[in-house]
Amino acid sequence: MASDKGILYGLGVGPGDPDLITLKAGKILQHVDVVYAAGSTKNDHSLAVNIAKAHIPENTPIKLLRFPMTSDKGEKKRAWESHARTIISEIEHGRKVAFITLGDSMTYSTYGYLMKTVLDLAPHLPVVSVPGITSYQAASASLNRPLVEGEESLLLLSGARGGHRFRQCSACTENIVFLKAYKNVIDINDALDEAGCLETSVAVSNCSLPEETVTRDLRTLDGAGKNYWTLILTHRKAENGQTKK
Ligand SMILES: C[S@@+](CC[C@H](N)C(=O)[O-])C[C@H]1O[C@@H](n2cnc3c(N)ncnc32)[C@H](O)[C@@H]1O
Repeated sequence: MASDKGILYGLGVGPGDPDLITLKAGKILQHVDVVYAAGSTKNDHSLAVNIAKAHIPENTPIKLLRFPMTSDKGEKKRAWESHARTIISEIEHGRKVAFITLGDSMTYSTYGYLMKTVLDLAPHLPVVSVPGITSYQAASASLNRPLVEGEESLLLLSGARGGHRFRQCSACTENIVFLKAYKNVIDINDALDEAGCLETSVAVSNCSLPEETVTRDLRTLDGAGKNYWTLILTHRKAENGQTKK
């Protein structure tokens, strides 16, 4: 039963503070028929839902799509396909669907995989992606520390493989952001130390949430620093010769 009224909105809901949701995402949440978010197979928690809740009308159903915590590519693909089919079925029944995701919808986001799978399986369906404020934009603002200035550049890295990519790529840039840094902080610290960047690096956890913490001595993150919601801002040398703090 196809309908031209059904649509998928992929909404980035910002880094944590509900006031950091865009007006556009907030307005869309007011009129969709159902809200989906990624969940784990282990619990019912969704930070994206907690953030967006204030903007979702009470009678709008909120559903979690559970993604297995696995590195098995086949298992992941099967989960995306199954969830994409759920979303496609909603749209084909004429429903307006929001899929909410933390930070920006297009930055290291489950939504990216889901959206591509929906469009692969049903290219005729309308999909509108709405950007959100990223975690590292919020961290930069929280620290009053500009991300990039003048002719500087910025390298966005996943820390999931430790300092490997930093060692390969960071020589040509002044500013580096590590997301997904929490598990491999020891190797990331070693790589930063080798490049003389440890002193100008800062970690922000739970950014824009009441429990936000800032760690300026990254070595103290060793061992205990296992907070998934942690990112690292790193700096080589500002164009004007000044060091960022
Ligand atoms: C899968 S990525 C999602 C990135 C997100 N889409 C964004 O635009 O920021 C998850 C990583 O983002 C970072 N992150 C997301 N929200 C954060 C927050 N509120 N505080 C600190 N780091 C955060 C952490 O590095 C975390 O491991």
